[in-house]
Amino acid sequence: MLIFNKITELEGFLEGLKSKGQSIGFVPTMGALHKGHISLIEASKATCDVTVCSVFVNPTQFNDTADLAHYPRMPEADTLLLEQANCDALFLPTVSEIYPTREKQIFDFGELDKILEGKYRPGHFNGVAQVVKRFFEIVQPNRAFFGSKDFQQVKIVEALAKQMKSGAEIVSCAILREPDGLAMSSRNALLSSNERVLASLIPRLLTKAKELALSSGLLAAKEYLSKEVAKQPLMKLDYFEFCNPTNLTTITQLQPNEKVVALLAIFVGKIRLIDNIILN
Ligand code: PAF
Repeated sequence: MLIFNKITELEGFLEGLKSKGQSIGFVPTMGALHKGHISLIEASKATCDVTVCSVFVNPTQFNDTADLAHYPRMPEADTLLLEQANCDALFLPTVSEIYPTREKQIFDFGELDKILEGKYRPGHFNGVAQVVKRFFEIVQPNRAFFGSKDFQQVKIVEALAKQMKSGAEIVSCAILREPDGLAMSSRNALLSSNERVLASLIPRLLTKAKELALSSGLLAAKEYLSKEVAKQPLMKLDYFEFCNPTNLTTITQLQPNEKVVALLAIFVGKIRLIDNIILN
């Protein structure tokens, strides 16, 4: 696997491949890689000639400086995992390489970046868009792969790709789960062993809420989930919403043939986790 720290070197490498007509698959990450990330590398390798993965903890998408400081960083372990997965190239830039100036770009996603995660993490998606735009300009991928645990992020990136006429196909990949159902996330590594056990409640509550939503309605499901979370002193719910999976507008009542996704964000101790489940 080739490792690049400099934009110009990565661009030089990619130019050579593109001139030979090779397709580029891109997997942007913030590192602390797990099997979920590796499934994105595999999806890219299955459909693209060359796979590039970036590992960059993007400061502009953190609205909490403590969260940025504590975000897990393990570049050696990440490099090893990517090598084992036969990733072709790793882009490991510094902050000054990606942001040579402090200039902040402002994006307009309408309501999409103000609801759900956007409401609780103001500015988060603007920072995601800023870095993904930068990466798309550098890598100019044919396809870019994102995990659907970050369901709203996929919508933002789709909107961004359209706005910047990037031409990259945005591929949303299935959530990978631990044996107890917890969605794989780099943040899971920050949970204490007690918190980790408690976190396994999240997928169970989501599954039960889905069943209730389909049998007794969305309100009953919302009440059930909030009550169950309130019983846990170490847990705090930020939101649990039923939404249209295309535009994420809130859904209050199930309609025949209407697709619905249930999304939540929840604190387990100090660690904030997100998850989602498709209802139908
Ligand atoms: O999902 C992530 O890890 C990040 O938000 C991303 C897409 C790599 C941008 O920093």
